[in-house]
Amino acid sequence: MKKYLVLFLLVTSPLMAYSAKKEMKINRDPNLIKIRQQMSRMESNYFNLEILANSKVLNFDEVNRTLEDMEDMARKMRASSARKELDQSLKDLSKQIGDLKKEVKQEDPIHLRKGIDEIYQSCFRCHSLHASGK
Ligand code: HEC
Repeated sequence: MKKYLVLFLLVTSPLMAYSAKKEMKINRDPNLIKIRQQMSRMESNYFNLEILANSKVLNFDEVNRTLEDMEDMARKMRASSARKELDQSLKDLSKQIGDLKKEVKQEDPIHLRKGIDEIYQSCFRCHSLHASGK
């Protein structure tokens, strides 16, 4: 029994060390760190929109400000990211944000809900295309 345990450890520890090293390498990639930071901001803005859309009194000025911040983030990502394959998805996201910004002027809660759902589809599509390791 002990023999198997030793054998098991001998086989698995180099594998674990290898994957830990690989993980560290991924985390040190400055471009990925930057993308993740920009995405964290995108995420908090996105959830801000969700909360605003579910409030009793809709604050369309705040919705507009949040959309502007997201638009700005998408623009910065397009300008700075070394991953040019993200460009088209970022363009799509910017277009959706721009469309919603126009619609928000009518202050219609149904349009707002629909627009937020469409934005989320863009987030989801890009993640399924470009997540780590793909
Ligand atoms: C242009 C493609 C693209 C779009 C559009 C996009 N993302 Fe991302 N997102 C990424 C990439 C690439 C990563 C980094 C994935 C990785 O770690 O490998 C990421 C990571 C994230 C993360 C993890 C951040 C972290 O701290 O690790 C969150 C949260 C996130 N995105 C939220 C969003 C939200 C919300 C939206 C929509 C408003 C969105 N993303 C739209 C490409 C995109």
